[in-house]
Amino acid sequence: MNGTNSGPRRLASTIRDRFWAVTAEWEDVREEIVQRISDDSNFVRAVFSGRRRNFQPSAERIDVKPVLLKERLLLQLTWLDGTKNLTKNISFNEFRNLALLEEGFSNFLVESRTESFEVRIGKRGQVFRKISRGQFTPNYEHDHTKNRILEENDPFLRAVGISDISGRVKPSMRDKYRQVEEFLKILERSAARLLDSKSEIRMVDLGCGHAYLTFAAFRFFQLRGRQVNFVGVDIRESSRIRNEKIAVELGIEQHVTFLASEIREFRDEEFEIAIALHACDTATDDALAWAINNEVEVVLAAPCCHHDLHKQVKDFPRDIGIISRDGILATRQLDLLTDELRAQILRISGYKTEVFEFISGDHTARNLMIRGVRSAKADHAIELREYRHICKAWGVAPALEARLKLGVIPGSD
Ligand SMILES: C[S@@+](CC[C@H](N)C(=O)[O-])C[C@H]1O[C@@H](n2cnc3c(N)ncnc32)[C@H](O)[C@@H]1O
Repeated sequence: MNGTNSGPRRLASTIRDRFWAVTAEWEDVREEIVQRISDDSNFVRAVFSGRRRNFQPSAERIDVKPVLLKERLLLQLTWLDGTKNLTKNISFNEFRNLALLEEGFSNFLVESRTESFEVRIGKRGQVFRKISRGQFTPNYEHDHTKNRILEENDPFLRAVGISDISGRVKPSMRDKYRQVEEFLKILERSAARLLDSKSEIRMVDLGCGHAYLTFAAFRFFQLRGRQVNFVGVDIRESSRIRNEKIAVELGIEQHVTFLASEIREFRDEEFEIAIALHACDTATDDALAWAINNEVEVVLAAPCCHHDLHKQVKDFPRDIGIISRDGILATRQLDLLTDELRAQILRISGYKTEVFEFISGDHTARNLMIRGVRSAKADHAIELREYRHICKAWGVAPALEARLKLGVIPGSD
């Protein structure tokens, strides 16, 4: 055996060769992606998604499409990161210089008029590519209607009373329409994995009220060709009667059921998605507990009035005691504490969790959304320690913890 071929040196050169092979293969593929997107007469759309190991792309996903603006064909890029979208229009030439393909996405789809080109980067950097024949048509539109999920004249909007019979949103229902649209955009991003993998979507709306969001979500999945099986739960019998009537009008009564029930008495069942918008006070905790106990994939909750911790806190922790002098600040601080502890319980229970404003504060003050998506992360010891520390410092026992199936947060003593 000669020196150059032995031991660590040989291993190092093998790794280096493999690295260069991967890089060269990636460079070929990257160039092909750029060429396909730059082909302005054939390019239809592209999607970059997924995340390579040890990379942190700038968004969960980037969509690219051609757009016609003032008779000039440009590329429209949309960054989607789960809570908000950012859109930018650039020239076809600029795309090459953006280095978007180097951010560490693991999946690339590029559709042109007659082909779809798919690339996947494996865990060890392997490059898998696939070309399929097909007919794809570019959509050059760019106006606000394009960004709407439900058009004003959608039959659902008329049936629930958001639009009038001529198919225009009623002036008094503008804010509701905006809320429905923003909610659907969040649902679209949150349910991306389900949309990719499931042909039937089961969703429960806990504290559904007039069921604007139940019907909107139903329509959203229906428009995407999914079988839908929904349940709306509300304590009020009047809501059940009204909502069932609308379901019959829309001809979807086989697929959506309304129940007059307390959330916490609603049966255990398998659902992929649970939503609870503005369920009052601890009804939000009932809904979150229901979602955690039933292991739903996606939970979206917009809390409203908070009384639970307000009743429990006697004194603020000394370091921030000053806040308790001003009533409104004390109230807001306790609202924040309530929602932060709810989010933390979701994290401890295995959900990737975010808290964000889902609609501008100009339209409603109740604009906070807690979003949890079940994740594979198994160890939540740090989050649990943080949770215990905060509960101790404030002397509180959140309603949500008491409602979890085992009575305690998993992993706590
Ligand atoms: C403010 S409304 C919101 C309705 C709807 N989610 C929306 O965003 O349009 C709250 C609804 O929650 C219902 N609710 C409150 N507490 C509940 C509970 N513990 N169980 C079931 N429904 C409840 C109320 O009857 C009411 O219809």
